[in-house]
Amino acid sequence: MDPYTYLKRIEHEFRIAPGAAQALIKSFHGEMRKGLARRKSSLKMLPTYVGRPSGNERGTYMAIDLGGSNFRVLLVTLKGGGAMSRPVSAKYRLDKKHITSTGQRLFDFIARAIKDFTCRHKEVADKHVEVGFTFSFPVKQRGIASGVLKSWTKGFSARGVIGKDVVALLKEALSRAGLDDVTVTALANDTVGTMVAGSYRDTDCDVGVILGTGTNACYPDANKDMIINTEWGNFNKLRTTRFDNEVDRSSRNPGQQIFEKMISGMYLGQVCRFIVLDLIGRGLLFPEKRPAIFSRPYMFTAEHMSLIEEDRSPSLGRVKEFLSSNGLAKNTYDDRALLRQICRMISGRAARLSVAGVLAVITFMDPALRRRHTVAIDGTVFEKYYGFKNMMRQSLKYLGGIRARRIKLALTKDGSGAGAAIIAACADSA
Ligand code: GLC
Repeated sequence: MDPYTYLKRIEHEFRIAPGAAQALIKSFHGEMRKGLARRKSSLKMLPTYVGRPSGNERGTYMAIDLGGSNFRVLLVTLKGGGAMSRPVSAKYRLDKKHITSTGQRLFDFIARAIKDFTCRHKEVADKHVEVGFTFSFPVKQRGIASGVLKSWTKGFSARGVIGKDVVALLKEALSRAGLDDVTVTALANDTVGTMVAGSYRDTDCDVGVILGTGTNACYPDANKDMIINTEWGNFNKLRTTRFDNEVDRSSRNPGQQIFEKMISGMYLGQVCRFIVLDLIGRGLLFPEKRPAIFSRPYMFTAEHMSLIEEDRSPSLGRVKEFLSSNGLAKNTYDDRALLRQICRMISGRAARLSVAGVLAVITFMDPALRRRHTVAIDGTVFEKYYGFKNMMRQSLKYLGGIRARRIKLALTKDGSGAGAAIIAACADSA
């Protein structure tokens, strides 16, 4: 069989037609209901003890953000009336050793980064500072500033943290580092921070979504009068392909975060890798030599995929360069075109699945789409992946129909950091 015909077959498995999206939305609603009723469900539906902000919160707060590839510290001044200063921020690179050894090592790293930040910024040096802690993992909260980690996701595996209160662990590390002026007043998931930052400015905002290293969404539950963290990354009532199953099997958390493994930045490159390896195995791609970048897991990334998709030149010169610099100087136009087509197929499905998730959350609150809804979205896949925003907007029309015009997808940059500061301010005034 020629490679294009073979790929067409795979594309068929990656397609999400409106009927399939409707079925997905229906089972999503079923799982949401079960999760809220505390019955067994792939959606944890975690209460967050945070409501929507008034927009009038004021003051200077620190936000710290753990859950992606960097740890970040931010300083935000809220001015009221939906306004805030440009955050002052610093990034600290998280190495594998920080996220996969012990909890103490991870929290000591965080405390050291905060210490470094406070020494460098006179606004907070030797002053009392209140912190909003964005901790982007499934947490069972017991209040606004306390919560127990249920499981790690996104490749984190630090020992001795699951089942513990992460705010208490942070406080212990702060005190080991001698940071007695730092008080942790709020704990929040990144989706919650993003939604809160979005609603600080836009009263139509009632969904927060992250499309980054991981993926997740939250919304305000009218009955519970607080925001619910769905942990949608773990949704698993959907059809997967053999490639998704390979990604799952070879991951650190097999059987978990199935939706996330089809959508988020950490895994898109892996899905691509397994398809490429399948084609190589059939002699349909790179017949001369298997490029090293596809041999080892997690080397080929979503960033590479975006770069490949961005190449619109007739000869696919940038793809050629990319392959050459990765030890595959001899590649044909067909190799390059096929690789690009595979990337588009995977990112296109990720965009459609994300939209199906967004539609599920919105129609759970407003089945007939009578109101306007702004979805605050943060994360590198949404922000930076070539064409992703557009694909999502097109999918919204395709899968949501005419009424989906009431839904606005809004990039809410740094939402999780600024949002944590707003949540800290809410906690402060409570
Ligand atoms: C993972 C985490 C979730 C987080 C998401 C985006 O799915 O479990 O809590 O919101 O990644 O960072």
